[in-house]
Amino acid sequence: MIAVLLVGGEGTRLRPLTEWLPKPMLPIANRPFLEHQIGQLRGHGIDRVVLSCGYLAEPIREHFGDELEYAVEPEPLGTGGAIRFAAANIDETFVVCNGDVLTDLDLGALIAAHRDHGARATIALHRVADPSAYGLVRTGQDGVVNAFVEKPPPGTADVHTINAGTYVFEPEVLELIPTGRAVSVEREVFPELVGAGLFAFTGEGRWRDIGTPASYLAANMEWMPAGGLVDPAAVIEAGADVTESVVGAGARLASGASVRRSVVLPGASVEAGAVFRDQVVGRDGRAVW
Ligand code: GDD
Ligand code: MG
Repeated sequence: MIAVLLVGGEGTRLRPLTEWLPKPMLPIANRPFLEHQIGQLRGHGIDRVVLSCGYLAEPIREHFGDELEYAVEPEPLGTGGAIRFAAANIDETFVVCNGDVLTDLDLGALIAAHRDHGARATIALHRVADPSAYGLVRTGQDGVVNAFVEKPPPGTADVHTINAGTYVFEPEVLELIPTGRAVSVEREVFPELVGAGLFAFTGEGRWRDIGTPASYLAANMEWMPAGGLVDPAAVIEAGADVTESVVGAGARLASGASVRRSVVLPGASVEAGAVFRDQVVGRDGRAVW
């Protein structure tokens, strides 16, 4: 099975980190985010990964080399345009993933549900308290999608099931995506598919979008080993306190520094007396957010 991963977004909510490193390459528990995501996909039978790249494609390609395939957009095509562009040569059922979601969703079960429904597209769902930062998906009997509303205004949503950012597509759906301009799969393609072969599937398990400062920190806390993770190439001086935190390669914590439930990015230098709680620390030894 082939998976197209959308990794071309600018990661604006994670600036300034994403000014030099694209969101999929940001470290989660000291490994680039994409390594975690691709590991999950491979464990669920994905044998070809096509990366749909745009913004800052080069660091991704340099890291993964021939292990993956790359479709680099000449200009941002939006999520829908990017899928059409990257899947241009795919003529079988395929998977699409947002390149900023970590989940242990059972892909096999998602694909099986798609086939059982004879669906043209199937969206994996997740439940959240407040859908306003996501795509709200309203379903009817047997998983049929009755409405897809991207980023519903806060306080207006009456259901809590959201688009989890993993889809199964039949290749015929690509023809619904206009060419020659940016197209959002969430705002244009899914609403058009409502009542025309669009189904949803509710998965179990862990799910996290790493796209905001709070969720980037939370993802690190969830994916580090219990107690924390210090890269062997970090220097923790005697008298520094590092508790339940992730410390990257080349980071240095001076004696008397105290870091708890935080991420110290690679190469960061934390001075004596600095105190960080639930924060992400950049190279200059200051909180990024
Ligand atoms: N190639 C390419 N080109 N990729 C893009 C583009 C583009 O023009 N625009 C966005 N992407 C990629 C991003 O890199 C990201 O991996 C994915 O598409 C989704 O974009 P985000 O900017 O992260 O969207 P979001 O988090 O606000 O919302 C999306 O994800 C939610 C789940 O986390 C939507 O799909 C929501 O409906 C969904 O609930
Ligand atoms: Mg996102």
